[in-house]
Amino acid sequence: MKRVVIFASGSGSNAENLIKFFHNIDNVSVIQVLTNNPHAKVLDRCKRLNISALSFNRVAFSKSEDVLNILKKQKPDLIILAGFLWKFPKFILNHYENKVINIHPALLPKYGGKGMYGMHVHNAVVANNEKKTGITIHYVNENYDEGSIIFQAKCDVLPTDTPEDLASKIHLLEMEYFPKVVNDLLNE
Ligand code: GRF
Repeated sequence: MKRVVIFASGSGSNAENLIKFFHNIDNVSVIQVLTNNPHAKVLDRCKRLNISALSFNRVAFSKSEDVLNILKKQKPDLIILAGFLWKFPKFILNHYENKVINIHPALLPKYGGKGMYGMHVHNAVVANNEKKTGITIHYVNENYDEGSIIFQAKCDVLPTDTPEDLASKIHLLEMEYFPKVVNDLLNE
C-alpha cells in the first residue's frame, strides 16, 4: 500500500478530489491531511470524507520537529502540497527527497514565487495578455515554485477572459490531471 499525506491551507478542493480518486484505487491510500490553518475548509471536507486531519502552527512546523515526527510515524511514500501556502522547511525536505510535490496554477517558471498564489496569479496572467496559462505539478525544493517540473497542462487565455474565468479553467485542469499524475508517480 502506497501512503499519501496531503498539506493544504484553504478550501481543499484538490485534496478532496485526490481523496475521492484514491478511494477507488486499491494500492494507494490518503492517510493524513495536515493544515496550517485551523479554520480551513479542508478540515470540514476531511470530516465528511472520514480522513484524519490535523492543524499545526508555525512552531510545530518549522521551529521544532513536531510535524516532522508526525510524518515519520505516517511513513508517506508521497507528500502532496495542494494549495499549501507556507514554505516547506529544508530539514523536513531532507527526509523526503523527491517525495514532496506541489501543484501551481500557472505555467512555471512564469508566475511563480513568493506572493504568487490564488487570484494573484490569474490577475497577473490577464494583465500581461498571455495567450496560454495552465497548471504545473513539480517537485518541491527550499525555494517557492522552483523544483523540477513533472507535468504541465495548458489552456487558452481568450482576450475576453477575466481572472475569474481563468480560475475556473485552471480548476478544471487540476481536477482532471492532478490525481492521474500522482497515480503515475506512485506507480513508477
Ligand atoms: C489550487 O489552484 C492550486 O493550484 C494552488 O492553490 C489552489 C488550491 O485550491 N496551489 P484548493 O484549496 O485545492 O481548492
